[in-house]
Amino acid sequence: MIQKFRFGSPISTDATVEELPIIQVTKENLTAAASAKKDCPSTVKDAEIGVLTNFFHISLGQSFSLSLTMEDSDAVYGLGQANRGINKRGYKYISCCTDDPNHTEEKVSFYGAHNFIMLIGKVSFGLFIDYPANVCFDIGYTKQNELTISTEGRDLDLYLITRTQSDDKENTDNIDSDALCITREFRRLIGQSYIPPLWAFGYIQSRWGYMNENDIRRVAKNYRDNHLPLDSISMDIDYMEDYKDFTVHPDRFPDLAALSGEMSKQGLHFIPIIDAGVKIEKEYDVYEDGVKNNYFCKRANGTDFVAGVWPGKTHFPDFLNADARRWFGNLYKRLIDLGIEGFWNDMNEPAIFFSEEGLEEAAKKVEELLKVKDNPKLNDFWAMQGVFNINNDHADYKRFYHNMNGQKIRHDKVHNLYGFNMTRAAAEAFDRICPDKRLLLFSRSSYIGMHRFGGIWTGDNQSWWSHLLLNIKMMPSLNMCGFLYSGADLGGFGSNTTRDLLLRWLAFGIFTPLMRNHAALGTREQECYQFEGLDDFREILTLRYRLIPYIYSEFVKASQNNSLLFSPLAFSWPQDKVACEIEDQLLMGESLMLTPVYQPNVSGRTVYLPEDMLFVKFTSATEYKTESKKAGWHYIACALNEVCFFIRKDHLLPLCPPCECTGELDYSNFELLGKTKEGLSYELYMDDGYTKDIAHEGRYLTLK
Ligand code: GLC
Repeated sequence: MIQKFRFGSPISTDATVEELPIIQVTKENLTAAASAKKDCPSTVKDAEIGVLTNFFHISLGQSFSLSLTMEDSDAVYGLGQANRGINKRGYKYISCCTDDPNHTEEKVSFYGAHNFIMLIGKVSFGLFIDYPANVCFDIGYTKQNELTISTEGRDLDLYLITRTQSDDKENTDNIDSDALCITREFRRLIGQSYIPPLWAFGYIQSRWGYMNENDIRRVAKNYRDNHLPLDSISMDIDYMEDYKDFTVHPDRFPDLAALSGEMSKQGLHFIPIIDAGVKIEKEYDVYEDGVKNNYFCKRANGTDFVAGVWPGKTHFPDFLNADARRWFGNLYKRLIDLGIEGFWNDMNEPAIFFSEEGLEEAAKKVEELLKVKDNPKLNDFWAMQGVFNINNDHADYKRFYHNMNGQKIRHDKVHNLYGFNMTRAAAEAFDRICPDKRLLLFSRSSYIGMHRFGGIWTGDNQSWWSHLLLNIKMMPSLNMCGFLYSGADLGGFGSNTTRDLLLRWLAFGIFTPLMRNHAALGTREQECYQFEGLDDFREILTLRYRLIPYIYSEFVKASQNNSLLFSPLAFSWPQDKVACEIEDQLLMGESLMLTPVYQPNVSGRTVYLPEDMLFVKFTSATEYKTESKKAGWHYIACALNEVCFFIRKDHLLPLCPPCECTGELDYSNFELLGKTKEGLSYELYMDDGYTKDIAHEGRYLTLK
């Protein structure tokens, strides 16, 4: 059951799709409900609001806060793209879309703002705080057993999701856990997850620094010549002319349509990047049109706000203005007309390297510091360090405004909606431009609700083993918030990767819907063919292609049923205390339990089986060993070039024959793993992979 409580008069975010009755909450009726007797509230209103006051202590002044005492055994899940573990207890997280490429353990904000949490314990519930500015989730940071959620403003919608008897299935043998039921309810509230085209499940090679068409041709050739499977190459900002959105560099990429046609013959797609900021340049039509039509974000005095990003000075399209959204979305057609079928939206927190105001303030500080240059003190030294720390300064978010349905709203009050609406602009335009076709779209920044329009990648991670583990732990949380099409930069974006790290990361990445190897300019080249022992890479990538029918099928089911593609063991075995604490093994779809290796210099790992399962070890894309294992702890050997996982009891895994791109997938001949007894079957979903006519019953094939 979901109840919608409204505090004040919130800005509409379009995060949800379900209409629910609104229970308006004021300070007065909170007090009345709290003092009314729990069992016999005097009014209906008291009774409704009493549900809230029974759970939480709510304080409503100029700001809002909600708190409760957690039991030691309670676990807290959710928050989507957030730091640390699957159980979020023990730290503080701030929902504030942030361009910070250093995802170290103490960081409190990443690129997405996903304000959904679930507390699972003796009493379980889910909470969605629909509020587009900063939200602080203190989950046992200030006080170990206290959960406090606070916002600076007090206008918000709060959704309380509880499990009722009627949510339970009649068949009591097969009751889903509280966590699964609450997730499903929440996902129903926010709408069905985006389903990309089938080719988006193929392997994507990317790098910031493919400078011209020959660089791209070389990547394609190396993959194809070495029989390393590949479906797409993503194009970073280098393809643009002076980093101007919707332009193509005339010398470096003289004929993108021809190049795209040439790639398409090899079964390859291009995925160009689009950045949020529009370069300020006379006669650049996107800039000129934006200025003329007031499509850019404005300062308080009505002039267009200026932010420094890749092209130098830029204006930010006002994605919260429906007209500007339509205008910007239509611009994607320029690239679609050149044969492009997929895009990634970037820098849309929005990232700000500097603002004109910020630069001026920094210059003044420098002047001040120069006055003490003959005898600087320690404080001056600290000040020197701070002077040019002006990128992504939150002060800048108070310097520009949006026009939302004629209302002027300061950016910081709706900050977390910006990237969401950039992606929505593109997705809505795709529906107009090619109504019958699915295009690939993923974004860096996001808010709850964006999952209906596109996927996300998890931004600028590093080539660190700890970031492989972070990737593993983040997948279920992203799914809880609706983001099914997601994945990390495999091999790591920043710093130099190593062969073993890339292999282990790929061995996990073959299960993530978005499987992209991407690296930063200046780092070691990390295409698979850059390393010795190519066979190892080939086998792992080929196994991905053998898995695609299963991954795609489970993906569509998860989207249709509002369920999880990746889930923690705790959600399926809530009574098993050991399983509940395991965060480095994940269930993936109905059949698999993944047990990735995420440490250097190890030849295996220990795994915990909550029930008997079938161990599967792939030593190449076609050769594997299986062994039945009993519930409990086991050590499994898993060499660098092997992929190991488990098939759940009475489940099957369909594998198609090996191939090198999704265009060659053969759905006529499946190998079924896990046939430990007669009578088992698997429902495989399949469609043409392109059109929007998805998932009706006729699309399922029973494999047995
Ligand atoms: C940002 C993106 C990264 C991209 C780079 C250059 O850092 O997160 O993926 O390569 O910008 O466009």
